[in-house]
Amino acid sequence: MAQIMDGKALSNKILNDIKEKTRLLKTKPGLCVILVGNNPASQIYVKNKEKQAQNAGFNSTVYKLSENTGKDELLNLINSLNNDDAADGILLQLPLPKHLNPYDFLDKIDPKKDVDGFHPINAGKLMLNENPYSIPCTPKGILALLDEYKIRIEGANAVVLGRSNIVGKPLAQLLLNKNATVTMAHSKTKNLSEITKQADILISATGCPDIITKDMVKEGAVVIDVGIIRDDNGKLRGDVDFNNVKEIAGFITPVPGGVGPMTIASLIQNTYNLHIFKE
Ligand code: GUN
Repeated sequence: MAQIMDGKALSNKILNDIKEKTRLLKTKPGLCVILVGNNPASQIYVKNKEKQAQNAGFNSTVYKLSENTGKDELLNLINSLNNDDAADGILLQLPLPKHLNPYDFLDKIDPKKDVDGFHPINAGKLMLNENPYSIPCTPKGILALLDEYKIRIEGANAVVLGRSNIVGKPLAQLLLNKNATVTMAHSKTKNLSEITKQADILISATGCPDIITKDMVKEGAVVIDVGIIRDDNGKLRGDVDFNNVKEIAGFITPVPGGVGPMTIASLIQNTYNLHIFKE
């Protein structure tokens, strides 16, 4: 039976630590979140980010822009936050409404305020293993979780399922930087279960409920579930068939209470670090 990796507990530990350190600062870290449109999931995520930033003692501001916001209006806001000394971290919540291309905006955020690590300079620094100003929050949280449970990354076969710019690609890069043997799988991958069965560390970030079944997992593997989707009955579901996979895995993250809270904890850490870096 797998050991459950408790992301909620670790995130609380990280958040309390940042809160203590923030009390000793002369000026508070400032997190600015931009939310464009009415995506229901994004509204919940942004509310949670605001709440945790406030809990940590940060100044937190959410800029809510309408669904039909134009390109210039959004660029102007980013520009003004780039020039605002109180804004340490700027986060543009994704996805944007269809008429806006995220890559027209992510590279306009000052890389030193890029709390998501999505700017091409930070993505490039990550690829070069050269200290990005920020590391993307979900991959950073997963690494913290692996570290907490003393999972050896060096030399491990790590399989990352999903190739998004937010999770899959930066995560694969981080694991490679830590000397894992990394395989990236995705929707066009053939013989998926043959690949996943090789994984010492299996990380699934597809958003397809129960795509990872027991027969796809090696005995004793570490299974990290990044998926989170609400089913028709309102229940949160991950990528992993948790009840069956936990019988065979060595370690496993639950949904909810695994990777989700770690993402927020990483955002708070990133904001704090950008503030300190500036001081
Ligand atoms: N949408 C889903 N995850 C994320 C994230 O980590 N950052 C931003 N900005 N948008 C997201």
